[in-house]
Amino acid sequence: MIFGLLASCSQEEKKYRIGVSQCSDDIWRDKQNSELKIGAYFHDNVELRFAAAFDSDERQIQQIDSLVETGIDLLIVAPNQVSTISPAIDRAYDKGIPVIVFERKTNTKKYTAYMGADNYEMGHLMGEYVATRLNEHGKIIEVMGLKGSSPAIERHNGFREAIAQHPGIQVVATLQGDWTEPTAYNTVKQWLSKNKGEQIDLVFGMNDRTAMGARKAFEEAGAVLPLFCGIDGLPGENGGIRLVQDSLLDASYIYPTHGDQLLQLAVDILEGKPYEKETNLMSALVTQDNARVLLMESEEIMRQSHSLEQLHEKASQYLNQLGNQRTLIFVALAAIFLLLALLVGIYMYYLQKARIQDERMEMEREQLDFYTQVSHELRTPLTLIEGPLDQLLRTNDFRNASDNAQELFSIVRRNTQRLTRLINKMLDAQVGGTITDDNAHLETQNLASPETAGNVKPDEDAPTVLIVDDNADIRTYLRSILQGQYSVLEAEDGKRGLELAREQVPDLIVSDVMMPVMNGLEFCQQVKKDDISSHIPVILLTARALEKHQIEGYESGADAYITKPFSPELLLARIDNLLQSRHQLKDLWGMKPAEQLAEEPAKVPSKAPSTAPAPIEDAFISRFKKMVEERLSDSNLSVEDLAADMGLSRVQLYRKVKALTGCTPVDLLRKARLAQAQRLLQESTLSVSEIAYQVGFASPSYFTKCYKDEFGTVPGEVRKPN
Ligand code: FRU
Repeated sequence: MIFGLLASCSQEEKKYRIGVSQCSDDIWRDKQNSELKIGAYFHDNVELRFAAAFDSDERQIQQIDSLVETGIDLLIVAPNQVSTISPAIDRAYDKGIPVIVFERKTNTKKYTAYMGADNYEMGHLMGEYVATRLNEHGKIIEVMGLKGSSPAIERHNGFREAIAQHPGIQVVATLQGDWTEPTAYNTVKQWLSKNKGEQIDLVFGMNDRTAMGARKAFEEAGAVLPLFCGIDGLPGENGGIRLVQDSLLDASYIYPTHGDQLLQLAVDILEGKPYEKETNLMSALVTQDNARVLLMESEEIMRQSHSLEQLHEKASQYLNQLGNQRTLIFVALAAIFLLLALLVGIYMYYLQKARIQDERMEMEREQLDFYTQVSHELRTPLTLIEGPLDQLLRTNDFRNASDNAQELFSIVRRNTQRLTRLINKMLDAQVGGTITDDNAHLETQNLASPETAGNVKPDEDAPTVLIVDDNADIRTYLRSILQGQYSVLEAEDGKRGLELAREQVPDLIVSDVMMPVMNGLEFCQQVKKDDISSHIPVILLTARALEKHQIEGYESGADAYITKPFSPELLLARIDNLLQSRHQLKDLWGMKPAEQLAEEPAKVPSKAPSTAPAPIEDAFISRFKKMVEERLSDSNLSVEDLAADMGLSRVQLYRKVKALTGCTPVDLLRKARLAQAQRLLQESTLSVSEIAYQVGFASPSYFTKCYKDEFGTVPGEVRKPN
């Protein structure tokens, strides 16, 4: 865009190249050339090319040809002679170049326009002036211009025709000049030496330089000086007007240069505007009478031209500066643009890079998810092959099987183990994650590991384990592992698992992680949040073997994390371990054995339990204790009443209390009564029967029996007579 702007700004209007072929090089030509230049100032699209032939036909022909060759659009020519230059002018014209013939004429018709003064009239007027000046009587010499040049011919004709009208005027000599001063000087000098003593009244030189050359010859010869008349009447120091003013010339005639007018004609032609084919320039005689005024005027004009030229000089300097500044601005703009483009490019590059990075990470994440998913899909059936197989191998049936059958089973087992290893390796290679070692033991596991109970039923008091898994086979398999030792509950997703956990308050939960409706992590969180279920240990059993998955599992509150395929022994050991390490509050009421009681003096026993339970359970137990103590004396108080007061069902209360204390609520209620009775026996004066009723026993004999069962001694022994 910026380069386009630059181009459009530097592109100018079409330039007109105008060739100017001058026949001579002198002050008249100089004046005309500078007028042409000033004229060109008014047209930005004009370029002038000058050539001066120094009065040589040959040179002028050559110069015209080469101007044409350089590709000028128009030719201005002042031909040296009438006939000699015509072929060159014709050639230019024939090439379609417009030609303006100026001031001197030619014999060809091949020109576009002519501009010049009337040389015949000029000669004629000078003839008339001379006759008048000499009072119709006198001898004159005519010194001609260049032979064959049209002004010389026409001026001569005009002059002689005018003189012919005045018989008293005698032309004693017509000498050949060539417009230059030295030639005139030499010619006149020669004539004077041949015609010594002849009295001459006036010399007409066809231009001022010729007239001055003649004067010089006369002065040198020491002859009586005649009057000298010339033509050109140029302004300036050596110009004809000053010569007349200084009386070196008697008269001159202003030969108009009009370079500006000439240039306008050229531009009109080039621009296809209407123009005059023949322009006759008007002029005037310079004599002693008007020389002073004319000099003043011409000098004023020259001064103004000079100012104009200076102005132009300044203007072009400013334009140059402006051009430079514009170029600078465009260059700066281009640089800024390029810089911006570069910055945008760099920005885009980084954006693209970041996008690719994001995409790669997203892809990696998807890949990871995919492999996790696949591994899950593979591990589950593998668990269901490996586990039951192990179980089978440990049964007596199998030990009694034939060697061949045993061998075949070993093959199957070795290959499921191999498959497990391959899946782990695949995950390692694809994801680059860490695979836990949890199942490494499978490879070294020996077939003679401890026997898992087959269809043995657990006893009534066996702890309850809740299995939560969406895969029915896994549930069945887990049940088969657990049912020998535990009573088993099943749920197919986290939501159902949560319901069962609240209703049944199991002793332990084994849960899958990836499940519909509610996943294992959320399920685990919910279990740990709820007052009723918060104490239940949770084992997450999952195919998500990566370390970060395990961390997620523990963060959700899980107590253990086992990866599939798993070893049944490991699972059973973990369950057992978790149940064993449950923090149970055995002595809730601070009861003391009978021996200790006998040794100690009577005092209020500490209510604080010997070991502190976890805070959340502490809150539950405190609530339960308070409830029991408040209603201790009510012999009709049932477990249902207590559960209702706690906002729980009988089962919920039973399980929760059993899990936390190892005792049933009924046991705890009785223990509370006996503990209170023990205190009263020590601290009060109430009778045993009174105490029995006060702590909620329906009969004193039953109280005594229970007391003896609890403490190994009868209440009467505590109450020693004072
Ligand atoms: C200038 C000049 C003038 C003269 C004219 C004739 O070159 O010699 O002095 O009047 O040409 O063409």
